[in-house]
Amino acid sequence: MTKFTVNDRPVQYRMEPDTPLLWALRDASNLTGTKYGCGTGDCGACTVDIDGEAVRSCRISLAQCEGRFVTTIEALSTDRSNPVQQAWVAENLPQCGYCQSGMIMAASVLLRKNRAPSDEQIDAAITNICRCGTYPRIRAAIRRAAR
Ligand code: FES
Repeated sequence: MTKFTVNDRPVQYRMEPDTPLLWALRDASNLTGTKYGCGTGDCGACTVDIDGEAVRSCRISLAQCEGRFVTTIEALSTDRSNPVQQAWVAENLPQCGYCQSGMIMAASVLLRKNRAPSDEQIDAAITNICRCGTYPRIRAAIRRAAR
């Protein structure tokens, strides 16, 4: 049984230690804001914050999370008062929306590390895929949240 923290709450999952974190979050904790896209670490829909780093939760096992602090999209805010979420709304960002929780998590990690990222730094940090092509609005929202 692995023990770690999800959204400031201690969790213990009775799942195989090699189970991807994504499945525990979605199936055991009902934190379905974290999305399944590819399952191979390429799309970023499943991005969560682990100890201040943007991590693809489909590619990290429960055993690798032992003792660590995981934050999901559900912890940002429930009233959209988070500046990144506000910027996403202000830029009318989502199209289909499926990838956006992962994008917001990756953007939040970037902005904690770099309060005024350039477009080049945004492109380097946000490696998530958006099939709707919202990248220009993602850059604009990150610049807005940085103000
Ligand atoms: Fe994890 Fe695509 S579902 S990177």
